Amino acid sequence: MKIIIAKDYEQVSERAWEVMREVVYGKKDAVLGLATGSTPIGLYDKMAEDHRRNGTSYRLMRTVNLDEYAGLSPENDQSYRYFMNEHLFNRIDVQKQNTFIENGLAEDEAAECARYNAILAQLPRDIQVLGIGANGHIAFNEPGTPFDWETHTVALTQNTIQMNARFFKSESEVPRRAFTMGPKNIMDAKRILIIAVGANKAEAVRGMVEGAVTPDLPASILQRHPDCTLVADEAAASLLKK
Ligand code: PGA
Repeated sequence: MKIIIAKDYEQVSERAWEVMREVVYGKKDAVLGLATGSTPIGLYDKMAEDHRRNGTSYRLMRTVNLDEYAGLSPENDQSYRYFMNEHLFNRIDVQKQNTFIENGLAEDEAAECARYNAILAQLPRDIQVLGIGANGHIAFNEPGTPFDWETHTVALTQNTIQMNARFFKSESEVPRRAFTMGPKNIMDAKRILIIAVGANKAEAVRGMVEGAVTPDLPASILQRHPDCTLVADEAAASLLKK
């Protein structure tokens, strides 16, 4: 794993953009695997700014997202579809029909997972952006998720519900289930960019980089990826061996 440590959030976003830029400048019809959460917002700002200033075009690109809450419609401002529209898709020239994310309203969950796996198989990703949970999760793959799982639905852990409650009016409004790519789908991307910010991620970052490769810390599977870059701020990297 290549490790880039940056001073603060602005520099983390700049370094993450440098990795993403190699892909978007290098391939007009790239497939971008994207993530939600507070961590990649700065990267999306850089992408939007570059589009505005330099005219970098996403018209031929396709995007696939990691996960979506079950039960939330695309119009719900807490859905990940809404998040992506706001933070990135509405600010660049990507064609909305080329942006893929699980359908949170799908009634047949198994059929929706199969549909999404088929999309992923058709669209090999040139890069996959990831955040990391304080417990080492990637997407909604919580500790214990088998590494060979593909898209599936999960019951959110109490920890994740509490972490995400800050975005809702109250904890009771946080959806209890979600659709998520599995570890296997994530590993299928040609390149991975994982971003970690803040001291509350330091333990998970240490485990991911230096610990055993185990489903108990889902992000540790990234040690096995041939082209994975971690961009972390000093706080998130603070427990790594120097
Ligand atoms: P965050 O979430 O970017 O909001 O910290 C990351 C994650 O839980 O995967």
